[in-house]
Amino acid sequence: RGRVAVLISGRGSNMAALIYAARANDCPYEVALVSGDRPDAPGLALAKAEGVEVTPLDARALGKGYWDELQSALDSAKVDLVALAGFMRIIPDAFVDRWQGRMINIHPSLLPRHKGLGSHAAVLAAGEDSTGATVHLVTSDLDSGETLGQVEVAVLDGDTPETLAERVLIAEHQLYPRVLAEYAARPFDAGWIEAQVDRLARQLPEIG
Ligand code: GAR
Repeated sequence: RGRVAVLISGRGSNMAALIYAARANDCPYEVALVSGDRPDAPGLALAKAEGVEVTPLDARALGKGYWDELQSALDSAKVDLVALAGFMRIIPDAFVDRWQGRMINIHPSLLPRHKGLGSHAAVLAAGEDSTGATVHLVTSDLDSGETLGQVEVAVLDGDTPETLAERVLIAEHQLYPRVLAEYAARPFDAGWIEAQVDRLARQLPEIG
């Protein structure tokens, strides 16, 4: 089974959905690690109670060293894929590069509409009659990597950003485990391996 690290900053309800879905015998991934950027994120306690390995990290206290600490936690847990689940921190390019094609995120809108924060308020302000959630690959452009899956949710009369967020979240909990499972079980991707070999070859010093 593919070894997944889930990174959170807060409540961790999507993380919980990923953990519980992984309990099915035929789930192609397991949650090998939960970590994040805030040691007080409520989701960390839930993951621990559910018997998942947790590495709490404090990005504010660690400063620039944070990304190296996170990388070593991922290395020690022999992680294949990183799933961001309400991870509210901009990721430096070097880290995105290292996980290219192996890091996914869930965003509460129908991307490419309403990237960044405040997507539910933006949907309502634009008078749109539907919104949803998107699971996508993480690239250095915020909320712009390849879409792996989407779910649509209707906007109701009288919706506020809060009521909309609540309903979209229910759909997120259905979408994320399904898309992660599909992605973890994807066929061997020779093109991706080739791209990694090319990238490494370019980084190596020229030989004599
Ligand atoms: C979710 O709605 C997720 O899509 C969103 O934060 C919420 C986290 O809830 N993520 C983003 O806005 C990323 N920019 P959770 O902690 O209960 O999973």
